[in-house]
Amino acid sequence: METKLLTGQIQEVAADALVVGCHEGAERLTGAAGAVDRALNGALSELLVSGELGTKPGEVTLLHTLGRIVAPRVLVVGLGPPGDLDGRRVREVAAAAARTFLRLRGRRLATVAHGAREGGLTPEQAAGATVEGTLLGLYRFSEYKQDPRAVEPETLLLVERDPKRAAAYGGEVAAAQVLARRTNEARSLVNRPARDLTPGALAALARQAAEGVGLEVQVLEREDLERLGMQAFLGVARGSAEPPRMIVLRHRGGGAKTLALVGKGLTFDSGGLSLKTAEGMEDMKTDMAGGAAVLGAMLALAELAVPLEVVGIIPATENMPGGRAQKPGDVVRTAAGKTVEVANTDAEGRLVLADALHHARSFAPDWIVDIATLTGACVVALGHQAAGLLANDDELARKVRLAAERAGERVWPLPAYPEYKEQLKSEVADLKNIGGRPAGAITGGLFVGEFAGELPWAHLDIAGTAWNAKERASQGVGATGTGVRTLVRLAQLLAEGGAEDGR
Ligand code: BES
Ligand code: MN
Ligand code: ZN
Repeated sequence: METKLLTGQIQEVAADALVVGCHEGAERLTGAAGAVDRALNGALSELLVSGELGTKPGEVTLLHTLGRIVAPRVLVVGLGPPGDLDGRRVREVAAAAARTFLRLRGRRLATVAHGAREGGLTPEQAAGATVEGTLLGLYRFSEYKQDPRAVEPETLLLVERDPKRAAAYGGEVAAAQVLARRTNEARSLVNRPARDLTPGALAALARQAAEGVGLEVQVLEREDLERLGMQAFLGVARGSAEPPRMIVLRHRGGGAKTLALVGKGLTFDSGGLSLKTAEGMEDMKTDMAGGAAVLGAMLALAELAVPLEVVGIIPATENMPGGRAQKPGDVVRTAAGKTVEVANTDAEGRLVLADALHHARSFAPDWIVDIATLTGACVVALGHQAAGLLANDDELARKVRLAAERAGERVWPLPAYPEYKEQLKSEVADLKNIGGRPAGAITGGLFVGEFAGELPWAHLDIAGTAWNAKERASQGVGATGTGVRTLVRLAQLLAEGGAEDGR
């Protein structure tokens, strides 16, 4: 897929379809939609006046242009109320239009930058968000279909009539392309069945991709993990026939500060001996979504040459109930030295993250951020609309929220009161790996945070946001690739030393 910036009038562009937007409540068509409408002798206004033009967010109206303009089709996408048009909404409507385009089986799609003239976003941000949303919308996971798509979209044209503006779009559009591509790759990893995406396969793919963009790569194998004393991680891996891997990536972006990113990489979570139900296990190939986010972010950071030292760590394993599986009641010694009573083998994410965070600390980071499909309790708390955010440092938490906002992803803070840690007390060990039903997303996160020590740490629980279970206008069923863009935006913010406003 190639993305091009074009200076000109959208109604004159040669493409299989043109995308323009219309606000909810608009009395007439303005801007690009107005220009297209005039070229079509008022065909769009007629639909608007008769109430047949969908203007709710993501509604798409398809028109044939009958030779009045070069492009055979126009897609009018509903932008929703003008006041609500933020970066997230722009991505969503652009994706909805793109998904309609996919069904048309066209090759060339032309769009204007939604919201570029409205003030909520800078024109550059609007352009970036439009490209990002469109490329995310064009994603489809067809690796396992016998008949691949006959026609693949080839070109995305972002059309801007003002040459000065078009010139300014370049940077954000280039970043958007990288972020969308890496997000889509993360989605494919998450969508890929555990049969094929084993820890070994993930490590091999990570190595290849990382070398391709100039990241340093190191893959720790079982013997290395044993030498490092990672009993918590190895305990989870015991029940599986697939050997574990710890993937370590380094982006040498320069500067005095280091960010560590740690992503949970459970290529399958059966629960282990504390076995999940059949239903509870159905989507557990997605339990490496945090790892996929870290990998995608690291690759993007390298491509975008973000000026920050960043280390990415992905502990990859299956959680299986094989004959050598760890047993409820086992006590393991973490690499950090703390002992853990494994009361429930299904609370395995925090065990692998404990050792991964400890390993991250060996790089002397200034911040640690982990991302994980950690708890069903987070899904209960926030549903599928936001990731849970837990932190031991308000400044870092603020930056994570700002980064998510820039990325068009939602995160919502959970309180990290120290009293919650009392739930993790064990009779036999330093910690227990479950804290009971109350505040499960918090106790799970705080367990992980124990291994950040005094370092500023933030945790994103993406159990509810990594997988889209219900078809939507802007997204089909499957992996969302959440986290890639937030982590990249966070690294950019930290590299800048922290911008102060949300734009
Ligand atoms: N991977 C799951 C969490 C999960 C649940 C992710 C649903 C995505 C959707 C995690 O390893 C897990 O099993 N957590 C347990 C923890 C419990 C035993 C304390 C859970 O949430 O039930
Ligand atoms: Mn589990
Ligand atoms: Zn899990």
